[in-house]
Amino acid sequence: MLDALPEEKQQEIQRALHLFSLGKGLPRTLEEASRRPYPFWDTQPVPKLGDDNATTHGPIEVDKASVREEPYSLPQGFSWAPLDLGDPAVLRELCALLNENYMEEDDNTSRFDFSPEYLLWALCPPGWLPQWHCGVKVNTNQKLVGFIAAVPTNIRIYDTEKRMVQVHLLCVHKKLRSKRMAPVLIREVTRRVNLQGVYQAVYTASGVLPKPVATCRYWHRSLNPRKLIEVNFPISSLRGNMTVQRALKLNRLLEVSVWLGPPLWPTQFFSFPLFLLSAGSPCMFQSLFFSNEHHPVSLAQSSGGVLTDFVSFYTMVSRVLNHPVHKGLKAAHSLYCVSSSTPLPDLMEDTLFLAKSKGFDVFTVLDLMENTSFLEKLKFGIGDKSLHYYLYNWRCPTIGLKMVGLVLL
Ligand SMILES: CC(C)(COP(=O)(O)OP(=O)(O)OC[C@H]1O[C@@H](n2cnc3c(N)ncnc32)[C@H](O)[C@@H]1OP(=O)(O)O)[C@@H](O)C(=O)NCCC(=O)NCCS
Repeated sequence: MLDALPEEKQQEIQRALHLFSLGKGLPRTLEEASRRPYPFWDTQPVPKLGDDNATTHGPIEVDKASVREEPYSLPQGFSWAPLDLGDPAVLRELCALLNENYMEEDDNTSRFDFSPEYLLWALCPPGWLPQWHCGVKVNTNQKLVGFIAAVPTNIRIYDTEKRMVQVHLLCVHKKLRSKRMAPVLIREVTRRVNLQGVYQAVYTASGVLPKPVATCRYWHRSLNPRKLIEVNFPISSLRGNMTVQRALKLNRLLEVSVWLGPPLWPTQFFSFPLFLLSAGSPCMFQSLFFSNEHHPVSLAQSSGGVLTDFVSFYTMVSRVLNHPVHKGLKAAHSLYCVSSSTPLPDLMEDTLFLAKSKGFDVFTVLDLMENTSFLEKLKFGIGDKSLHYYLYNWRCPTIGLKMVGLVLL
């Protein structure tokens, strides 16, 4: 019966069957994931979900003697497109693809609103290569419909320091989903990275793939409870029998003595022995924390010329869809928060006050490093999403959350 239908109709039915059989996107739990196959990921050098926790450290696949020269084939009608992010028109095109098609809440209530400044900050750290920003365009109208990026980074995994890439912003246009475009993008960016002699990558996803090396949870602190309740922001502390009045009272932030001094010159603390997973070179540090005056916000305090406390957060704006009053939501995402003189909860309390005074609606952190020491005390509520960390072509034991120091954008 299927064969008798026109091609377009057949594809529509296949897409619907795919959605019904697999649910929306990737599994959210390990249990769910264990019940499904991973036809693409099972061909890749990553640990299998069923593998025991590794006890050894090292690459899964030896470095290739030769790397394929020609790009992977895309479905007919599509081509690889070089993307020069130095060109404002190209940057706008990428913003448009991501803003229309990147992650949105499952209930379709909000969508990220990526700015050109954010993309430049995230995609052009020191040593970035233009060919590692892979675009896919439609041949007939040159519309950008797919994207994946790799950016260089140095990562310390346990005792090994490795030059690798961070892979992020994988995105396929909504109308081209479930057509196996994502595996081609992943294979192609891997090929381009391998061509430069790099064979490991780090990446994150909110869904489960084979196999997370660490899993953390998002926690959110309400800075503007009325608005968050009105837009139905998914955070435990604003649910149940919470009223606006009670939420306002509970989440009030007192003006505290602002300890934060002016930003320090980054070289004063670039060698801070902070991370197990670490992006640790001076220029990397400068680009991550001091990209420009406003993005991200990084503040430090020192005593007697020695750095003692450091806080950094970046901005993620979301568009609120289909709401009569609210159009946008401004979230601060913690990058790093470390202290050696001010107790961490006090440091974070000041930071929350600062973020509120800068017009942020919510402050988001992951429960990694020492962050659990302030979450409940400062009335963070657990969010409904996890974030899984993955390493490509590297086997090692699972990493405890206190030891995960890398916040991927
Ligand atoms: C992520 C996205 C590109 C996947 O596209 P898709 O059309 O659903 O998937 P495709 O049919 O092309 O490919 C499916 C394969 O990609 C894998 N995949 C899906 N999402 C993935 C992700 N985020 N990271 C890595 N692999 C992923 C699937 O596991 C599957 O491989 P498998 O056969 O081994 O299970 C698409 O859903 C999208 O653009 N989403 C919005 C942006 C987003 O959420 N990006 C990911 C941020 S982590």
